[in-house]
Amino acid sequence: MARRRRIYEGKAKVLFEGPEPGTLVQYFKDDATAFNNKKTGVITGKGVLNNRISEYLMTRLAEIGVPTHFVRRLNMREQLVREVEIVPIEVVVRNVAAGSLSTRLGIPEGTPLPRSIVEYYLKSDELGDPLISEEHITAFGWAAPQDLDDILQLALRINDFLCGLFLGVGIRLVDFKLEFGRLYENDDMRIVLADEITPDNCRLWDIETNEKMDKDRFRRDLGKVAEAYQEVARRLGILPESGPRDMPGPKAMQ
Ligand code: TMP
Repeated sequence: MARRRRIYEGKAKVLFEGPEPGTLVQYFKDDATAFNNKKTGVITGKGVLNNRISEYLMTRLAEIGVPTHFVRRLNMREQLVREVEIVPIEVVVRNVAAGSLSTRLGIPEGTPLPRSIVEYYLKSDELGDPLISEEHITAFGWAAPQDLDDILQLALRINDFLCGLFLGVGIRLVDFKLEFGRLYENDDMRIVLADEITPDNCRLWDIETNEKMDKDRFRRDLGKVAEAYQEVARRLGILPESGPRDMPGPKAMQ
């Protein structure tokens, strides 16, 4: 890991130069942050679990024709991805009121939304990722109207598919955040799903008990954070029977 060129370091991941041109190695850290870096911590084993969970979800999505940056998992903490130009927008899809939507609009957490709602936030740590509209995105050129149209259609398809996938394992997909990138091939450009899909950027509630199985356990100091991520992996059927040494063995959530 030390000898490779580091391209970018984010809060939860590091991107290194990949083995071939046009590829990157995405390394998943155990670091966790919330509230734009105001709260920081370490969730032991998170990187290993998120690498596996994102691999699984991106692979399932690719099978239904959603283009993604994911190529293959390389080891416990790393995956090979295609190098893309990240669209500087966080796309949030919501099915149930929670988090900032509940705070902003005074809708109690847990209220089902009349339909899925897509929101856009500008990726800017300095500004605290402000909520923006399609008008801002196209007027300021963060994405062309055609790109934004592709992003919206993909986000809704991803939501439909993931809602069903999680429902099948007893989990309600409350909301989640996606990032997209521009993939350049020859003279073509297409929009592909990038970044990660993990309990770091989803709200996942147990269907029976509404127990939180995502990063809200860290944000809100609810405890049993790694256990919750592990339970998500277990239900998806991707937790190895005997976990390797840097991944704690399976434990039941209370
Ligand atoms: P929010 O309710 O705080 O706006 O979050 C909506 C969803 O987006 C939730 O699943 C968590 C995810 N999210 C991120 O992945 N990164 C972020 O920086 C924020 C604020 C939210």
